[in-house]
Parts: sequence; C-alpha cells; structure tokens
Amino acid sequence: MPEAVVSTEPSPQIENPLRSLLESDRIEDPCSIIFFGASGDLFKRMLLPAVYNLRLEGILPANFSVIGFSRSPFTDESFRNYCKESIDSFSRSGPAKESMWNEFSRRISYITADFDDDAHFHDLREMLERSDAQLGTAGNRLFYLSTPPSVFPTIVERLATAKLDPQSNTTGWTRIIVEKPFGTDLSTARALQREINSVFDERHIYRIDHYLGKETVQDIMALRFANTIFEPIWNRQYVRSVQITASETLGVEQRGGYYESSGALRDMLQNHVMNLLALVAMEPPATSSADAIRNEKFKVLSAMRRLDPARLDSFAARGQYGPGTIEGESVPGYREEPDVNPASNTETFAALKLHIDNWRWSGVPFYLRSGKRLARKSTEIAVTFAPIPHRLFGEASDAIEANVLVMKIQPDEGLSLRFNAKVPGPKNHIRAVTMDFNYGTGFGVASAPAYERLIADAVRGDQTLFTRWDAVELAWEIVTPVLERWSSTKDRSFPNYPAGSEGPQQADLLTHDDGNIWRRI
Ligand code: BG6
Repeated sequence: MPEAVVSTEPSPQIENPLRSLLESDRIEDPCSIIFFGASGDLFKRMLLPAVYNLRLEGILPANFSVIGFSRSPFTDESFRNYCKESIDSFSRSGPAKESMWNEFSRRISYITADFDDDAHFHDLREMLERSDAQLGTAGNRLFYLSTPPSVFPTIVERLATAKLDPQSNTTGWTRIIVEKPFGTDLSTARALQREINSVFDERHIYRIDHYLGKETVQDIMALRFANTIFEPIWNRQYVRSVQITASETLGVEQRGGYYESSGALRDMLQNHVMNLLALVAMEPPATSSADAIRNEKFKVLSAMRRLDPARLDSFAARGQYGPGTIEGESVPGYREEPDVNPASNTETFAALKLHIDNWRWSGVPFYLRSGKRLARKSTEIAVTFAPIPHRLFGEASDAIEANVLVMKIQPDEGLSLRFNAKVPGPKNHIRAVTMDFNYGTGFGVASAPAYERLIADAVRGDQTLFTRWDAVELAWEIVTPVLERWSSTKDRSFPNYPAGSEGPQQADLLTHDDGNIWRRI
C-alpha cells in the first residue's frame, strides 16, 4: 500500500466530443473495489479494463482503490504488472496511457489468499482501513465475487467474521456484486440466497447479468417507453409471436469443465435471455426507479405459465453440436472439447416456448433459443405482427409478409422494421423491405462495454440493472422442470446439429405447432 496520495487532480478523459461527460455521469463517492477471483479470466479481460476506463473517463473519482484477493501468488508489484498487461491487451481505449497508469497503479494492491482462512480476511480489513486513511476511500466498499460460485458462501461468511459486513461498517457503505450463476437450480439458488442474505440485505446485493449492461438492452425500455408509436400495438391484438435468439459461433473454449455442469439452459436462457424477455413483455413502470422497474419485471415473470412436465417436449428442445465448420474452419464437436465427457449429455443449445398468461399477452408464444457453435453470432428480439386483415394490393404471386420489428442487440446494434411496399413499375407488385437504424452511425459512438456501466452503477448505488432475488427465483422456477427432465433422460440423438448450422431440427417442433418458423440465425 503506497504513502498518502489522496488525490484532487482532475481526470484526463478519453477525447471524444460526442461522448462528453455529463456532470450527472460522474460518481461522487470515493471507494475501494475488492475483486475476489482477481487472477481469473473475467477480471483480466473485462473487469479491470472496465475500472480503468471508468477512471480514464473521469466517471470514477480519483480517490479509489482496487484490491485483488485471490489464490494465485502475486505481490503488489507483480499484480500491478498483470493489471497493466490486462489493460494493454483488452482495454477499449488501447494500451495504458502513461500518466493515467502512474496514478492508477499506485491504487492497486493484492492479497494472496485462501478463501477459507479468516486471517486473510483480517488482512483485507486492515488493508481497507489503510486505504481509507491513505487513499481517501472513505470507508465505501464494493466487494466483487468473480470466483467459482462454490466459494460464494465461504467468502460471505468470512467477510462477516472479519467485520466486513454492512452492519459493521460505520463510516461508509458496503455492497456486494455477485457474478452468475446464482445457483444451479431452484433449490441451490434458494440456499445461496439464504447464505448471502444472512450477511447482506437485498439493498446491498447486486446480482450481475452483463446483458443488462449492454446499451442495446437498455434501449428496449427506451424504445417502448420513450415513444408513443409502439406501445399501442405491443399486445396480443397486434403481436403474433416474439422470438428471442442469442446465438454464438464460439464453442466452449477452455470452459468445458464449467460447461459440463451447466449447459445452455443454465448458462444463457435462465438469466440473459429471460431478462430480455422480461424487458420486452413487462408493463410500463410508474417511475424509472430501480424498484418500480424491477417490480414490473417480477410481475411479468410471475404471469408466465409453468411448463407441464407431461408435455415438456412441446415446449422445450435441446441440442449438442457435433464437428462442423465455422467461418471456413473445421471445428471439433462438443464431446471432443477439452474437459468434456466423450459421452456427454450436456446441451449446448436450448430452446423454450413460453406463454405469459395476462391481458396483454394471452395466446402469444414467446420463443427463446440460445446455442453455441451456430451459424452466426447474433442476439436479437423479433416481434412479429398480425397479418393484414384484407388483401387489396399485390399480384396473386406476391407474398405479403407480416411486419417484423427486430431489436438487434449484438453484434449489429440497432433496430429494423420489415414492412411491405409497392415495387416500382406498372404493376402493383408488393414486396417486403427493411428500414434500418444503427446505433453506431446514429450516435457516432461505439457502445461502452457492459461491465463499465454495471460497475459504475454499483458504485453509485443504482440497482436498476441488477437482477432482484424474486426475479431470479421465478426464472429458476420456470426452467427447473426442464433441467430435471434433461438431466434424468439421456438424449440419444446427441450430437444433433453440426457446428456452424442453424441448430437442431427438434427445435422446429416448438414453432411448427403454432404455424410459425424460426428466423434464420
Ligand atoms: C456468459 C456465458 O454469461 O455469456 C458464456 O457464460 C457466453 O457462455 C457469454 O459465451 C455470452 O456473452 P456475450 O456478451 O458475448 O453475448
């Protein structure tokens, strides 16, 4: 820990007039951010670069400290070098800028720790007290759990024993960010909640879902509630179906061990995709407060019809990729990936058909799917509207397509509306055309990575973009019957889709039953 360096210097900022900082973007509170699991991949690729860029942009105040707390043996010095490498390799603003790095690195320290050892948590408390005295961090503490979930309860318990819990902090605030997965099914999630809740109240807990930090995901609410033209048709009278797709071209990379016990339903659908669904389907909140918004998300999830275990195959489909080709390269099948059982029953693709039994959505199917090693990386929400009631135009051979509004979450970021138009010429041919909006060109700036927004919000104390326990619990309630069925019955068709394809044919049953088809990935 360095000598007293309480800073009052103004921050250098990324030079971009289109991204000029509004006063309200600045965070007032000094604080320490403590990363459990700081030697992991997420910290290196995402978390540390996010903190650095928040500081570079002047959003994070000068009086902060970063403490790494992990098993890998680092000294303060070697950990700072590791952090510098992380910024040089992964920061969106490029390699660390010397003047900023000098100021930033003095505020980084590290504890080589065993999560089971109380003594290391006492060391942490002492380090935090020194940070408050020397770096001006004012007793404000943000703990970030980015370890394997199996050690979440141990860390929380040890924090309490070392008097690092919110009640024992009499000078500042204490908050905790919890990475996913929050449990592995309904009962483990409830057990985890009980453990964390015995030390931290809901108002101190920030359950992170990085999809909620994506600009385009936040724009779902802006689209719906900052415009008048969409909401009147956003219901069963006009909407025929909603499809939410989160497809990836990547396989499981080096995460075979984790993925074997997870699968696509737990890894993506239960959290990221379910959050997208809640934002698309919820009622307008009365205010923009965190609780008003999270109340509406909870309400819409509670209106979701529970899946009938006897008819599960009509509502849920799974797949596993075999060998195939992605962007011209041959890639192995899931069962050939490192740390994967050669006879694995784990799904790398999951699709669900859900219904929301309320006045707005009664009868409208919501199709959700996510998978690895599919034809394209794409996350989108497509709302398909009713067909026209009476055909006036077009030649007999012209197909009159339904209108479709697509919210493109990534990697394309924008909105597109498919509608019918007259083809120029002497006849009245009708053809569907697309009107596109792209965020990059519309605003002239690239979206900031989700973790920047989310870490900033946690330091600000804004829980809007974090998932509340009641919604997590409902999401588990909805998917748990499927998880149970899939783990207890072996799918003999696995692998049932080649890498680089549109996914397994089984998924088509979900849409065909209603006379619909999946959009091309
Ligand atoms: C993570 C999953 O939560 O999200 C990964 O664990 C997945 O398996 C990733 O690849 C996808 O995130 P993004 O932002 O690339 O869509």
